[in-house]
Amino acid sequence: MLTEVVEISENELDGKALEELSRAGEIIRAGGLVAFPTETVYGLGGDALNPDSSRKIYAAKGRPSDNPLIVHVYRFEDVEEIVSEVPETARKLAKAFWPGPLTMIMNKNHKVPYETTGGLDTVAIRMPNNKIALKLIEKSGGYIAAPSANTSGRPSPTVAKYCVEDLSGKIEMIIDGGQVGIGLESTIVDLTSDVPMILRPGYITLDMLKEVLGEVTIDKTIIDSTSTQKPKAPGMKYRHYAPKGQLMIVQGKQEDVVSFINEETKKAMQEGKRVGVIGTDATRKLYNADVVKSVGDRADESTVAHELFKVLREFDDENIDVMFSESFDDSGIGQAIMNRLLKAAGHNVKVL
Ligand code: TXA
Ligand code: MG
Repeated sequence: MLTEVVEISENELDGKALEELSRAGEIIRAGGLVAFPTETVYGLGGDALNPDSSRKIYAAKGRPSDNPLIVHVYRFEDVEEIVSEVPETARKLAKAFWPGPLTMIMNKNHKVPYETTGGLDTVAIRMPNNKIALKLIEKSGGYIAAPSANTSGRPSPTVAKYCVEDLSGKIEMIIDGGQVGIGLESTIVDLTSDVPMILRPGYITLDMLKEVLGEVTIDKTIIDSTSTQKPKAPGMKYRHYAPKGQLMIVQGKQEDVVSFINEETKKAMQEGKRVGVIGTDATRKLYNADVVKSVGDRADESTVAHELFKVLREFDDENIDVMFSESFDDSGIGQAIMNRLLKAAGHNVKVL
């Protein structure tokens, strides 16, 4: 299949852009697949109410079909059409955070096929905060199922180039809307339990949810790396975000981290390996490795979220065998950053 790549700027949805989005919408209505930007990461979209589209999404990603998809809507009233009941908590959260990087899990009704929910009776729903995405959902009939637009297991794409790398030849169209704003996938909160529970940390933090709802918990299995229990979001059990090389996270005082990484780098380079280091703006100049990249400013962790997946992908582009990364604070959005980084490293952490 030939994959068409279309460039659209979010701030310039002119006649031509709208025409292309109508065409993309037609593709999805007809059962085809289109990758598109959201504010979190790029999504691989198909008609959420068409079981064949969901099957195609799993095939294109090489994703296990017990791992449910998120349904994207462009207006709140469409949620009512696909769930058995809209909980009061969902109304409050939508008011506070939609459109935005928050996915809510509710009980589904018969309109959502089990192919989309991986066999579950619940459905994950989100309204993305990106004009291209919202217009595409509208043109596609209102419900787009979209996982991140990467081959299963690889870091999620935050620029269109990596959608092309993973999905070219497998889907009808890729919409290039530039680098996404947030860079990490949405926060997932389960509203079907007595107390709402975070199943995947993201840009909307535990404290932000508590401010709106009062009591909120977090699935222990995603913060405790020694837990043997199954995470509640099926997707969280799989190996994820993994670069091709081997990644180690180094935790400790800054100067200790820098000297440990430099020493290990030297050893690995002597063994003929290509070594990459993930540092920050303040430390990048202190490392000696084949490739050193900054993921941003430690004092503003949203810059780290924005760059992390891109940097992991770039190390793949540069055929890096071994990588070392600094560690980040585990509070606020840092919780989401560390969740993704730990998965990318297969929980390989050196504590100094
Ligand atoms: O930011 C995002 O959420 C991006 C963009 C494209 O919107 N999408 C995304 O989708 O990250 P995906 O498929 O890569 O991750 C969806 C996660 C998986 O871990 C899946 O197991 C979980 O959501 N999930 C989906 N439906 C669920 C359900 N009914 N119950 C529990 N977990 C669910
Ligand atoms: Mg994903």
